[in-house]
Amino acid sequence: MMSKPKFYITTPIYYPSGNMTIGHTYTTVAADTMTRFKKMQGYDTYFLTGTDEHGQKIEKKAAEAGVSPIEYVDKIVAETKELWKLMDIEYDDFIRTTEDRHMKIVQKIFRKFYEQGDIYKAEYEGMYCTPCESFWTPTQLVDKNGEKVCPDCGRPCKPMKEESYFFRMNKYQDWLIDYIETHPDFIQPASRANEMLNNFLKPGLQDLCVSRTSVKWGVPVDFDPKHTVYVWIDALSNYITALGYGTDHDELYQKYWPADVHLVGKEIVRFHTIYWPIMLHALGLPLPKQVFGHGWLLFGADRMSKSKGNVVYPGPIVARYGVDALRYYLMREMPFGSDGNYTNESFLTRANADLANDLGNLVSRTVAMVEKYFGAEVPAPGEYDENDRHIIDMFEALPGLVDAQMNALQFSLALGEIWKFIGELNRYIDITQPWVLGKTEEGRERLKTVMYVLCEGVRAVAVHISPVMTRTPRRIYEQLGVKDDTLMTWDSVKKFGQLRPGTQVKKGDALFPRVDIKKEIEAMEAENAAKKAASQPEAPKQDTITIDDFAKVKLIAVKVEACEKVEGSDKLLKFTLNDGSGTRTVLSGIAKWYKPEDTVGKTLILVSNLAPRKMKGIMSEGMLLSAEDAQGNLKLLTVDGGTAPGSRVG
Ligand code: MSP
Repeated sequence: MMSKPKFYITTPIYYPSGNMTIGHTYTTVAADTMTRFKKMQGYDTYFLTGTDEHGQKIEKKAAEAGVSPIEYVDKIVAETKELWKLMDIEYDDFIRTTEDRHMKIVQKIFRKFYEQGDIYKAEYEGMYCTPCESFWTPTQLVDKNGEKVCPDCGRPCKPMKEESYFFRMNKYQDWLIDYIETHPDFIQPASRANEMLNNFLKPGLQDLCVSRTSVKWGVPVDFDPKHTVYVWIDALSNYITALGYGTDHDELYQKYWPADVHLVGKEIVRFHTIYWPIMLHALGLPLPKQVFGHGWLLFGADRMSKSKGNVVYPGPIVARYGVDALRYYLMREMPFGSDGNYTNESFLTRANADLANDLGNLVSRTVAMVEKYFGAEVPAPGEYDENDRHIIDMFEALPGLVDAQMNALQFSLALGEIWKFIGELNRYIDITQPWVLGKTEEGRERLKTVMYVLCEGVRAVAVHISPVMTRTPRRIYEQLGVKDDTLMTWDSVKKFGQLRPGTQVKKGDALFPRVDIKKEIEAMEAENAAKKAASQPEAPKQDTITIDDFAKVKLIAVKVEACEKVEGSDKLLKFTLNDGSGTRTVLSGIAKWYKPEDTVGKTLILVSNLAPRKMKGIMSEGMLLSAEDAQGNLKLLTVDGGTAPGSRVG
């Protein structure tokens, strides 16, 4: 017997620094959809996802929460797995970079690079972006209001010096350029390949700093344990460590590598198409067949991010409208590769138009008519006329069209083809007018064919949507009376006419009830607001405090050294303050009342022990005091005549 063709697909391993959002869900649903599609076509599939748990960011988050890093990530990983269950994600493995099976092999890989001369040790001095955990050369930094910021996230970088190991990326540069140019499918969409060639590879690759002494929460370099392995070397290896590469039990690796596709967001294409191929090549391993860089789900005009506080979580949407409505929306709304906007309105509009109207009505009208005219029994068709033929031709062309779009990972276009067919089935009802045919004896004969064509069409729709929608097909089969598994397969929709006449249909609940969009938006917003309010700490019940309470607030005098507007905000000013022991950055929402330059030299009052908070991507280390009048105008508090920065106030 010929063995089944293989299909190995991965998502990025996500940072468990906070709960997964609709953005992470987007990639994961895409990978799940693709896996289900390939499985339906008879492939032996393997779907890997997981979490990228090391690094300074996680270390910091855990410290803020007052728990150990592993306690912190364990909780988020458990919640992530719950979310994937809720979204009907059927992964084969969930790899965590803190697992032994992964860490051991990362050490082995690192050692091999060192032993074969790909990695060397040297002193490094550069600009470092803490949130991205990346070093940047001066030419890579971007100028933002006179400040040098990270080219990836736009946040400030700071100088950092350390002894590090370096990977000789340069050695593999020409090979990689040639590989990308001779393998046009490797990086998709093609525009991203050009971006990599022109922006990174052709200008010349710098050697990559691949170890840190400043990060403790990582995989130790086993032959030099004060170093930990750079998170990206650690993270990228997951795609092979999960398969048992480098162990005595590497059957999965032997079977599934190279991956068919790594799905990644566009911001991490660079890591997957430059560092990862070079790592693999240096290990003497084949490259993944494809890296697909998809677009971002935006919220308003902004990238959704925890630090911007504009995050949408899937849980409440699924609770109100079901998992299929959300999975459908994610796969349909934007072409895979482009950015798109998530709004409650666009979600509800699609749910009403595509699901309640187009699909829901087609199924309920079809089943209701078989009940009404044929005692709930699918009739045997007679001769097919031109209108029937049109539907039958479309039916038989559909698998090819869907297959082509799915293989190009064009989920929205694949669904577009299916919905064209649904549209034609609805139009077929309008053209054939069953309610007229049902009135005469002769008409009823013709109606048998019409109803058969419709039922068979609906069955094909159920099969085609099944990789995207995990629950609706079952509900359609129940209504259609389809019980035989062989009528739910990909093979069964290649040829028209598989549904057996005599099948008993049974009307059920509406697949997707129509919703009042305005009311639903209000309800969703109210739910959100209630949740936010519930998570706020309760207001203190008394209006007096003790002197000890007051002593907890550390107020000091500070002197304004510099002040500027915060890009993208009309409220915030960014202050550089002398606090007596050095300078610190504090943001204050008073841009409406002060010109930045007018504040320089003033002595102000700062709450200096407030927990740092990030706003607009900038960490604010304290709060400046101001007085607010009844009209809401703000004035900064100053010290009469000035005082030395750092003086205690109280
Ligand atoms: N840990 C790295 C990846 C290492 S892979 C070897 C990482 N993690 S992450 O938690 O930041 O996840 C990023 C990925 O999540 C993106 O590449 C993308 O697949 C997905 N998305 C997260 N938010 C997203 C949107 N708002 N829109 C679309 N995808 C997004 O990077």
